[in-house]
Amino acid sequence: MTQTYDVLVIGAGPGGYVCAIRCAQLGLKTACVEKRETLGGTCLNVGCIPSKALLSSSEKYEDAGKHFADIGIKIGKLGLDLPAMMKFKDGVVEANTKGIEFLFKKNKIDRLTGAAEILGAGKVKIGGTVYEAKHIVIATGSDVSTLPGIEIDEKKIVSSTGALTLADVPKTMAVIGGGVIGLEMGTVWRRLGAQVTVIEYLDNILPGMDGEVRKEALKILKKQGIDFKLSSKVTSAKSGPKGVELSIEPAAGGAAEKLSVDIVLMAVGRKPYTDGLGLEKAGVALDNRGRVQVDGHFETNIQGIYAIGDVIQGPMLAHKAEDEGMILAEMLAGQSGHIDYNLIPGVVYTWPEISSVGKTEEQLKEAGIAYNAGKFPFMANGRARAMGMNEGFVKILACAKTDRVLGAHMIGPNVGELIQEVVSVMEFEGTAEDIARTCHAHPTLTEAVKEAALAVHKRPVHI
Ligand code: NAI
Repeated sequence: MTQTYDVLVIGAGPGGYVCAIRCAQLGLKTACVEKRETLGGTCLNVGCIPSKALLSSSEKYEDAGKHFADIGIKIGKLGLDLPAMMKFKDGVVEANTKGIEFLFKKNKIDRLTGAAEILGAGKVKIGGTVYEAKHIVIATGSDVSTLPGIEIDEKKIVSSTGALTLADVPKTMAVIGGGVIGLEMGTVWRRLGAQVTVIEYLDNILPGMDGEVRKEALKILKKQGIDFKLSSKVTSAKSGPKGVELSIEPAAGGAAEKLSVDIVLMAVGRKPYTDGLGLEKAGVALDNRGRVQVDGHFETNIQGIYAIGDVIQGPMLAHKAEDEGMILAEMLAGQSGHIDYNLIPGVVYTWPEISSVGKTEEQLKEAGIAYNAGKFPFMANGRARAMGMNEGFVKILACAKTDRVLGAHMIGPNVGELIQEVVSVMEFEGTAEDIARTCHAHPTLTEAVKEAALAVHKRPVHI
């Protein structure tokens, strides 16, 4: 007998598994199919979670080697046990993926294993079995992009996946792309001892982020020892027994230079993943960038087939996918849902961290919106000083007419957490005055947010 579901979710990443859990909570008979043996998708298996484990471990290693002495801690000879660091990271991944298994069982979600092919509305084939579902949700995520003529072998030329499992610390590493992955994974291997060169096509790193933050990030990362080749493009990468030889040209054209490195990390972006899903046969429309086209209710052109997460338009971020999964589940259960794409925070987990929400100054200028900016440096924050971590600043942008917060951009200690206060205020359509008049505990890093809000009205206290 054919197994029939209310909802069959394809892909168990943050978009898919959250959607499945919420559907089940709302009483829908739900299955989730995943081709990996473990749940959690790219994020939990080879993305956010393992990279954050390595970022945290490598940060402690660097602190012990370079900063402990400054605060009066003496240690003997510092050593790196890379296999143990990797084992810790693998343990973190296992605990997280097992956690999703538990949640599936708890919520009575049928976990199906295999690659799914959509046969048409209401029908999905997995292995030799055809399942029926009233609603099909495509949550297949994204895959790494590469450059023409450069093949990722995950040994010498690696993607973010290979960069999480290098057996030794390379002496030299070239990172192609100065975006989020390039800077996070470049930072990990630089801290562990590699000489890292980031090659970026544009004239600055982190495209799309606030200009001032980008400038500060570049300055700090250079000071930490990363080399940058900006306005440069890699035209070839030849892998040989000794390493990889790169040919690099100025983006505007001109003479090429060579760079020989042990390892190349390809981090020039990701692309939607729809291989083998049978979308063409099923008649599901894609846009000109290969993303599944959806309407405001995440429905594709085929009734009953939906898509969420990296495979559709919008930022490729786990929390965006999760929110879409929740909302879609609620809509499938007859409720309503809404997501404000302007209020999706972005965090880069380098140290200092970098975070943002809402509009940048550049975007406000381009849109002709009058705004006031307030900025506060961590140098003037007591807690940051006490932590010995006083680089960076918080910047808040508010509407000149209404004082409503339009954006926040931060670089500094723990700003990946601090940004959330501003996201909440913006979600409630709050003003800079609201933040400034809210009591912030002392001494905390959050006071920098309050001071930046005070600075919007030119009345900061501590600068
Ligand atoms: P990205 O889009 O963040 O950065 C790619 C960079 O490569 C850009 O700066 C771009 O200008 C540059 N580039 C493109 N072509 C180039 C070329 N031929 N030569 C040199 N540079 C070139 O993409 P990335 O870092 O690969 O990350 C992929 C996705 O994963 C992003 O959407 C990112 O938001 C997401 N992600 C998010 C994380 C987070 O939220 N902390 C962590 C890791 C990934």
